[in-house]
Amino acid sequence: MRNLENIKGSRVYGRRQGVALSASRQARLDKWLPQIEITVSEQRPLLAPESYFDASLKDHWLEIGFGKGEHLAAQANSHPDIGMIGCEPFLNGVSGLVDLVDQENLANVRIFMDDARLMMDSLPDSSIGRAFILFPDPWPKARHHKRRIVSAGNIMVLSRILKDGAELRIGTDHMEYCRWIMAHMMENPDFIWYSDSPEDWRSRPADWSASRYEIKSLEGGRKSSYLRFIRRPR
Ligand SMILES: C[S@@+](CC[C@H](N)C(=O)[O-])C[C@H]1O[C@@H](n2cnc3c(N)ncnc32)[C@H](O)[C@@H]1O
Repeated sequence: MRNLENIKGSRVYGRRQGVALSASRQARLDKWLPQIEITVSEQRPLLAPESYFDASLKDHWLEIGFGKGEHLAAQANSHPDIGMIGCEPFLNGVSGLVDLVDQENLANVRIFMDDARLMMDSLPDSSIGRAFILFPDPWPKARHHKRRIVSAGNIMVLSRILKDGAELRIGTDHMEYCRWIMAHMMENPDFIWYSDSPEDWRSRPADWSASRYEIKSLEGGRKSSYLRFIRRPR
């Protein structure tokens, strides 16, 4: 079941554009976006992720709010047989990922330049093999909590689009948001927290490369939590 209620009147909070792009970065966007940008529409039927890629791929993974794209590009590089779909409304971030696609010649990346909830809502049930939400904006003030991307409604949508046994990875360096994420994830019976010992969430797994935000956070002396949840088989 689609959850259009979830995105009705939705808006992206935060910046869509920062500093003006240099001519060379703009040229790379102009070259790449027509080839790798995804658009979705509420009107058409749900589109399987494979429809966005030229080649037939083993699986399709989704990253929500990829920032400048370092983590997404690293995953695309080490998994050329996986189609990576990234959602990011911030133009300068999209330009960062496009630069990496250009430098590393990544054929398995597609970009949705808008609110990830629109992308999620356009995907069929059980179509995504792994999802990443890395260092989402914590919106620390109580009156802004409703802006948090990790919410009961968005978890329901993730539960719908993730395949049985698929992993959802969420990273955060914000203790209160971490507690919020755990509480909301545990409230949804479709997910199992993948953790046998504190080491499982205190250290970043080897196949989870650091994102730009995480590196800044480490440099600032903050500790992060690396949360992994498994979509319970239906
Ligand atoms: C704190 S940054 C983290 C960026 C990146 N994941 C990292 O770890 O470096 C949060 C990102 O989420 C993006 N974002 C916020 N709301 C979003 C939404 N509704 N859909 C997709 N991306 C969103 C922001 O533009 C921003 O780039």
